[in-house]
Amino acid sequence: MGEVPAKPLIRGQKVWLRPWERADLPARATWLRDAGVMRTLDEPAPIGAAQEERWFEEQLAQQGKEWYRFAVCRLGEEGPIGAVMLGPIDWRNGSAELGIYIGETDEWGKGYGTDTLNALVDFGLGELRLERIWLRVLDSNARAIRSYEKAGFVAEGTLRHLLHQHGRWVDGIQMSLLRDEWTALPRPKGWELGGEPG
Ligand SMILES: CC(C)(COP(=O)(O)OP(=O)(O)OC[C@H]1O[C@@H](n2cnc3c(N)ncnc32)[C@H](O)[C@@H]1OP(=O)(O)O)[C@@H](O)C(=O)NCCC(=O)NCCS
Repeated sequence: MGEVPAKPLIRGQKVWLRPWERADLPARATWLRDAGVMRTLDEPAPIGAAQEERWFEEQLAQQGKEWYRFAVCRLGEEGPIGAVMLGPIDWRNGSAELGIYIGETDEWGKGYGTDTLNALVDFGLGELRLERIWLRVLDSNARAIRSYEKAGFVAEGTLRHLLHQHGRWVDGIQMSLLRDEWTALPRPKGWELGGEPG
């Protein structure tokens, strides 16, 4: 793996985003067998290291086309604490779905998730010229909903019986962030951080 860059290309106040490397797969395989992480995602079964090998090849082929997937690392560190993704991207309408999880569950509630969202939407809207970034979240996932709201996402509506989980149907919420709303956010954009010009 490379060195931690002094000036990460995609960053927030606390994290930076980098491509996935093969060396990250054991960490991912640990996260993706954890019920606390998996029950919030649309993934009912644990995912193992061999599946992760296949996923790694697929995401390499898709990166920069219909998907962007990044490892989330704390600033100054190389090891990942989570994952974030944008895709599939509808290039004609400038719209993309977002997904996120902090796999290191001890790190929940410390602001890393919101900071990751900020870094990713700055990339999607500021670099890719998207118009709309949207997501779906279980309505029981109050921490995630709060984090999305802090990043500027607005609820669009209820998705009834979105997922069958633990023997019952659960509802979801769809949320989105539009370009104008992102432009008006009172925080600095990722590329303005770090005391470096432009
Ligand atoms: C969702 C997730 C990415 C958020 O990241 P995070 O770093 O934990 O979140 P943050 O610390 O940035 O923000 C969490 C906010 O929710 C609040 N919160 C935490 N638990 C809460 C609860 N049970 N009810 C309401 N708010 C809650 C926190 O107080 C904080 O808000 P505040 O800053 O106004 O106090 C992370 O928790 C995670 O990966 N969870 C598991 C996977 C997941 O749910 N992914 C999203 C699927 S749609």
